[in-house]
Amino acid sequence: MRMKNLAAKFFVSAVFFGTVGMAWGIVMSNSQDTSMLAAHAHLMVIGWVSFAIFGLFYNAFPREAERRLATVQFWASQAGLVTLIPGIALVSAAHPLGAPLAAIGSILSLASMVMFGLIAARGWR
Ligand code: HEM
Repeated sequence: MRMKNLAAKFFVSAVFFGTVGMAWGIVMSNSQDTSMLAAHAHLMVIGWVSFAIFGLFYNAFPREAERRLATVQFWASQAGLVTLIPGIALVSAAHPLGAPLAAIGSILSLASMVMFGLIAARGWR
């Protein structure tokens, strides 16, 4: 499947992370082991909710989606989440790799949100 559209890319990633996150929630619930609660919660709220909101924005403002900064924002958000979630999970498991991974993931996620703010500010002007 070829996706040139940034909104579609965000939606596909949102559905992917939402599916993985819900399956994880069911596993967590069945096992009654909620030690991974924070990783699940961040996967759902960033991966499913925030990425879907980014997709809705780019669908409403396709001109902004054409900007190079929007592509950078997409990849920063994806790289941020796939680093942040293992980071949080490893922190929850008291693994020493967790904190540095979570730090990298959170900085990438923050950078993606700042870029989105700049893009959205122009879109609404
Ligand atoms: C199949 C769907 C889902 C299942 C089975 C599931 C399961 C769970 C479980 C078992 C917990 C731990 C609850 C606790 O012991 O306190 C949890 C926490 C959480 N979930 Fe999910 N979840 C699902 C979908 C979602 C969705 C769609 C979102 C957000 C969009 C979400 C966000 C959260 C958040 C923020 C927490 C942390 C709540 C807290 O700290 O009190 N989950 N989930």
